[in-house]
Amino acid sequence: MSNPLNTPDRHQLIPRFEWNARHVLEDSSSLYFRLTRELIGDGKLLVLASHIPAHQPAPNLFFSAVHYLIADPANADHPLREFFPDLTPNPNTRDDPYPVFRKFCLTHSAEIRHLLETRSVQLNEIGRCAYFYAVFCLLADRLDGDPFALLEVGSSAGLNLLWDRYAYDYGDGTRYGDSDSHIILRCNLRGNARPPLSTTLPRVAFRIGIDLDPKDVLDDDAMLWLRALVWPEHLERARHMEQAIALARQHPPLVIPGDALAVAPRALDSIARDMPVLLFHSFVLNQFSSEARARYAELLVEHSVGRRLYDLALEPSEWPAPLVLTTYENGRASEQTLAACDHLGRWMEWYP
Ligand SMILES: C[S@@+](CC[C@H](N)C(=O)[O-])C[C@H]1O[C@@H](n2cnc3c(N)ncnc32)[C@H](O)[C@@H]1O
Repeated sequence: MSNPLNTPDRHQLIPRFEWNARHVLEDSSSLYFRLTRELIGDGKLLVLASHIPAHQPAPNLFFSAVHYLIADPANADHPLREFFPDLTPNPNTRDDPYPVFRKFCLTHSAEIRHLLETRSVQLNEIGRCAYFYAVFCLLADRLDGDPFALLEVGSSAGLNLLWDRYAYDYGDGTRYGDSDSHIILRCNLRGNARPPLSTTLPRVAFRIGIDLDPKDVLDDDAMLWLRALVWPEHLERARHMEQAIALARQHPPLVIPGDALAVAPRALDSIARDMPVLLFHSFVLNQFSSEARARYAELLVEHSVGRRLYDLALEPSEWPAPLVLTTYENGRASEQTLAACDHLGRWMEWYP
């Protein structure tokens, strides 16, 4: 039978859920970890999950759809809520959550299917700004303090474009970024090397985001979806996201809608050639096809002729995620892996 949506079949989903449990959930969400162990042997739920479009991170999308629905006040009395630490003051860690979870999924299968087909993984994780801040400082250093422009690819709601409104604590007793900010992002530095952090904010001439489907911070439902993408145990992350959304409502970030492959070249063409540009992206290229990834790399090479262009990538090609800065000079690319990072901003090992 043809598959016009190009969705995975349920057998293809099992290794994706297993990989996610082993590499991501084991130290991130004990609830989703436990649920995954049973879900991978559950034909009915795998059939439901097979409505997830290709190139979407399947486990994240599936669990977030359930999280979004169970957080709805209409489900305030549902017993599944007892297992979600962000939805109940005394979460149930004794009982097996799977039977209740399964029943909820089957009862709400039409709503879950609709969410899987219409929403996508757009987690906007401001914790990652702790990595970006270090690299912005590095670039400011390399440019002798000259300003540069920022172009974020895959911005979601644009919360990472507000990086200079957050404070950073790397554990060395100094507050970086906006030291007065009430949003304090803590990032543990592992190893002996230190990034060239500065308390002087890097000079950024302007910043623009690009997203296929930008999330409007004024749209309450879109923000509930972003919130549902945060694992239920991560209360501090959820709080940071809510605070960042409140900040973005006062200082709306500029995010241009469209495919980065079409919008980034236009944006680059509109920026003066003597202005250095840093493109940055985190957990975006995994949603590109392999052809789109190759095209993205090509277009940076093409647009680097006659200008200083940089690309900063936090993309999970391996685990922990490498933080890679590519410098483009007149059509030549040179890549430098700066650090190994956790995916949520919790720690970074800077390379000497
Ligand atoms: C997982 S989110 C990451 C958001 C943000 N970079 C972060 O780390 O917080 C991935 C984002 O990339 C966007 N995206 C995926 N493919 C895209 C494309 N071809 N062009 C522009 N944005 C894209 C999605 O819409 C989504 O908002």
